[in-house]
Amino acid sequence: MSKLEWWQEGVVYQIYPLSFHDSNGDGAGDLPGIASRLDYLQWLGVDAIWLSPIYPSPMADFGYDVSNYTDVNPMFGTLADLDRLIAEAHRRGLRLLLDLVPNHTSTQHPWFLESRKSRDNPKRSWYIWKDGSPDRPPNNWLSIFGGSAWEWDDRTDQYYYHAFLKEQPDLNWRNPEVQQAMLDAIRFWLERGVDGFRIDVIWHLIKDSLFRDNPANPCYTPDQSPYLSLLTRYSADQPEVHDVIKRIRDVVDSYGERVLLGEIYLPVERAIEYYGREGSGLHLPFNFQLIQLPWNAAAISRAIEDYERQLPTYGWPNWVLGNHDKPRVASRIGSAQVRVAAMLLLTLRGTPTIYYGEEIGMSDAAIAPEQIRDTREYRQPGRGRDPVRTPMQWNSERYAGFTAGSPWLPVHSNYATINVKSQRSDPTSVLALYRRLIQLRRSEPALTRGSYRSIPAPQGVIAYLREAEGRKLQIALNLTSQPQTAPVHGLVGRIIVSTILDTDAGPVKESLSLRADEGVIVEV
Ligand code: GLC
Repeated sequence: MSKLEWWQEGVVYQIYPLSFHDSNGDGAGDLPGIASRLDYLQWLGVDAIWLSPIYPSPMADFGYDVSNYTDVNPMFGTLADLDRLIAEAHRRGLRLLLDLVPNHTSTQHPWFLESRKSRDNPKRSWYIWKDGSPDRPPNNWLSIFGGSAWEWDDRTDQYYYHAFLKEQPDLNWRNPEVQQAMLDAIRFWLERGVDGFRIDVIWHLIKDSLFRDNPANPCYTPDQSPYLSLLTRYSADQPEVHDVIKRIRDVVDSYGERVLLGEIYLPVERAIEYYGREGSGLHLPFNFQLIQLPWNAAAISRAIEDYERQLPTYGWPNWVLGNHDKPRVASRIGSAQVRVAAMLLLTLRGTPTIYYGEEIGMSDAAIAPEQIRDTREYRQPGRGRDPVRTPMQWNSERYAGFTAGSPWLPVHSNYATINVKSQRSDPTSVLALYRRLIQLRRSEPALTRGSYRSIPAPQGVIAYLREAEGRKLQIALNLTSQPQTAPVHGLVGRIIVSTILDTDAGPVKESLSLRADEGVIVEV
């Protein structure tokens, strides 16, 4: 097998900068704070960090509303702080990825301020302006954050389109000037040494040129977000998006050894299109199946199998358990299963991404009404994302060691026990397991590059084989809270890791006894 790229062998770690570490006591995390925690990330063994947006922004959507693509929000620090962070990361062998938000800007971005001024402003066509009347928007498209996606603007008596908040107008990516401007921003960061980007809502970049109404979703049920009442046939995932991505990819490729990850919430058969023709698109279109599927062995085994089968030969797989938009894995599947999930994430074929705090088993925090920061919670109660964005739990001191001030979101009440410091000194902690699995991945070609094959297992158990260079590892994961017995592939083997981390490696014959909520890796 040819040599793998760093982003194929490596583990990505997502940092939500507001919540990682606050260096100046203002209650919000910042770049020097992240720099001060790089030793921890190096110790953990991850290879790359992806920072959610750090650009100047009015923070209507916490940085996903960018008002300048080539600077740093003073809240997080300065460009010089970012340069230092890149250098410090590189010195430790860590890569650094930024979050690129090309689909929309802030209403405060100078481009939009211009565009909004008059119908004949040179920047007018940088955004999506359409006729209508105050009570009749141009079409039925909905905003993901609730209501119509069209905002009436009195100044010029037209609507502008926003797939998210009205403070986040969508750019018109059919305009070559917009493309050039964004490619320039990409070059700006690549020149500074950034190792690539996670691209926000990339499947939204191009919309139907005729702006046709979206059809109703026949499978919609009222318990779902109203946004899902329509299919997004015309508002997203248009064929021309792949030409645009190819242009981004060409720029990135001209710098060598960089990577593009892309956020895509689409069914697998659509999402894998984003690898582009012959792999000329994204290196890693995010695969969110482990976030979306019920925590059920049969459903997950089937999904892995289908994904593996559908991937094109040039498509490298990837897996994710959580991010800054979705409930934390510990809350979704229960803390007893967190270790099993970690073993799944880190032993499947492909690049894993860890969301900060996952490695210590952080769960969603309760947010009191007066603590709500994500305005989505007001618009769509229950869908706010504050519970998954609370400060990283470093130790059992005040505010979990996150800040010397008062944190922008409350610290989870469990921080006295769920924190890095106490788990670092416990050889059987969730953190110890993450570290052990990351180390093992690195040292075992069967895990980093080996083939994947599912093997028969009793109900409630996921079992598969990873194999490379004559070495075979069997993974068996008990997704239930009852003991299970699974066959040992090839009949004899030796357990090299149990998620419980309490037993020494031991031989196994014919059958494997899995304790409740246990996963094991067996050398066979
Ligand atoms: C992506 C981000 C999310 C943001 C949205 C709009 O889904 O992950 O946090 O609100 O895009 O930019």
